[in-house]
Amino acid sequence: MSEATALLRLAEQMARTAGQIQRARYETALDIRTKTASIDLVTEVDRACEAVIVETLRAQRPDDAVLAEEGSGDDRPGATWRWVIDPLDGTMNYAHGYPRFCVSIGVQRDGESALGVVYDPLLDELFSAQRGEGARLNGRGLRVSDEDDLGRALLATGFAYDVHRSADDNLNHFARFVKAARGLRRDGSAALNLCYVAAGRFDGFWELKLHPWDVAAGNLIVEEAGGRISDFSGGPCSGSGRETLASNGHLHDAMLRLLRG
Ligand code: IPD
Ligand code: CA
Ligand code: CA
Repeated sequence: MSEATALLRLAEQMARTAGQIQRARYETALDIRTKTASIDLVTEVDRACEAVIVETLRAQRPDDAVLAEEGSGDDRPGATWRWVIDPLDGTMNYAHGYPRFCVSIGVQRDGESALGVVYDPLLDELFSAQRGEGARLNGRGLRVSDEDDLGRALLATGFAYDVHRSADDNLNHFARFVKAARGLRRDGSAALNLCYVAAGRFDGFWELKLHPWDVAAGNLIVEEAGGRISDFSGGPCSGSGRETLASNGHLHDAMLRLLRG
C-alpha cells in the first residue's frame, strides 16, 4: 500500500470517528458560541471533533503539519504532508438541527492536494478521492453530471459570515444565477456542496471567501470525479477558498460569464 493510500485509510477512519460524535450529539442541547460575527457559530461538537482528529494525528503522524479550523493544529512549515481539517462543516445547520453537515479532511503532499475525505454521518455517506485514482462514494466510483445547459442545471452557493456588513456579499451573483438556472440551493455546507457536484447531484457550485478547510477535500473530489475547479477568472484555485467555482466542466464557461456579469 502506498503512503498516500495509507493516509486515505487514516483520514476515513478519523472522519468516521468524528462523524459518530456528530451523530450522537445531533439535536441535543449544545453550548453554542460566536466567533467572527454573530452568525459565525462554534459548538462544543466542533471542538470535540477537532480534538479527536488532531490527537490521533499527533500520536500517529507527529511530523506532519496540521491546519485545523478551530485552531488546535500545528501548521509547521517544511513538512511533506499537511492535513487541512474542517471538523464540522455546516455548524449553523448542526446548531439548528438541519441535517446537512459533515467532517472534511484534505491532505496535501508538498503543497499539492493528494487526497480528501468528506463524511456525512446522518446519511452515512463517505466521499473520498486520491489524486489520479478517481473519486468514490462509499466505495463506488463517482462521476460529475453531463448537463451542458444552464437552464436545466441545479446549482448551489453559500454566503460568507460577513454577509451582514460586506458589500462583496454574493447577492449580485445569486440574483443572476437564480434567473438563469433551473434551481439554486443554499444549504450551508460547502464541503458537501462540492461533493454533490462530484456526484452529479449539483451541476455547479460557487462561493466567495471560503477557507482552505472548506475546500481542501472537496476540490480534489470534484476534480477526480471529472469536474473542474477554478477561481472566478477561470484560473487555478490557490486552495485559499477566496473564490471557488466548481462545475461538471460543461457549464464552467457559462458560469464564469455570469460571475463576471
Ligand atoms: C461554512 C459552511 C457554509 C458556507 C460558509 C462556511 P462552517 O463552514 O461551509 O456552507 O457558506 O461560508 O464558512 O463554518 O460551517 O464550517
Ligand atoms: Ca466550513
Ligand atoms: Ca467548521
